[in-house]
Amino acid sequence: MSDLMRTVLVTGASSGIGRAVAKELLRQGYFVFGTSRDCNQFETSHSHFSPVEMDFSKLSLLAEQVKQLQTKQPSISVIVFCAGYGRFGALEQFSYQQINSLMTVNFTAQAVLARAFVPSFKKKGRADLIFMGSESALQGRRQGAVYCASKFAVRGFSQALREECAKSQVKVTLINPGMVKSEFFDQLDFEPGDDDNNYILPEDLAAAVSYILMTRPGILVDELVINPVNKMIKFK
Ligand SMILES: NC(=O)c1ccc[n+]([C@@H]2O[C@H](COP(=O)([O-])OP(=O)(O)OC[C@H]3O[C@@H](n4cnc5c(N)ncnc54)[C@H](OP(=O)(O)O)[C@@H]3O)[C@@H](O)[C@H]2O)c1
Repeated sequence: MSDLMRTVLVTGASSGIGRAVAKELLRQGYFVFGTSRDCNQFETSHSHFSPVEMDFSKLSLLAEQVKQLQTKQPSISVIVFCAGYGRFGALEQFSYQQINSLMTVNFTAQAVLARAFVPSFKKKGRADLIFMGSESALQGRRQGAVYCASKFAVRGFSQALREECAKSQVKVTLINPGMVKSEFFDQLDFEPGDDDNNYILPEDLAAAVSYILMTRPGILVDELVINPVNKMIKFK
């Protein structure tokens, strides 16, 4: 099978980075399974696109759903983990439930999903796990205690998993973007500045994913840090 015919699972494919990744890979001829909590959110249909409804906050259901998906769709050999959200503020502004939910959606659900696919991925000629970390996976910052914790967890997980998979053809990559102009900021009180230099576009990350998937068998991209040239936050 040609690399361009590979089957990819993109989580969070209804919006922002995941949507751009799904669109770019469809354009290149990949088969794409895309997740959302509500598949009515997918704007267009495409003969190579299959919607999958999954809520990453519902871990008990998710474990069974991803096991079934892996069994029914054994051709999936790439997962691009884009589902996630941001909540910021001082720690005392978070309820227990909000802490739990952010860690669950941004980290634990990714581990559960990877857990379901890694055993079969290790038997394949090539497989890719591409996680969406953040600049918040690299440096803890004020107002970001829980979000940074969730992203540090993804980073530690991906580093360890990369080592675990080193003897197989499973490549584990982490992308750490700075601020991306997406719906991520819709519910937040800040966003990137308006100048082109102040933000990354979701399409920039889709291009990065595309590059990672095209690397030759003998190498892997372990981590990629991508930033706007001039970081600028605008408060709404
Ligand atoms: N935007 C940035 O500046 C930025 C920077 C660095 C890293 N990131 C990371 O990149 C990832 C994608 O962000 P984005 O900018 O693309 O945000 P976005 O435009 O808000 O998209 C988030 C996606 O995650 C899905 N999602 C959210 N909560 C979910 C849940 N409980 N269960 C399942 N899916 C859920 C959403 O799907 P539905 O709503 O359809 O379910 C949506 O498709 C996140 O992990 C984020 O932390 C973003």
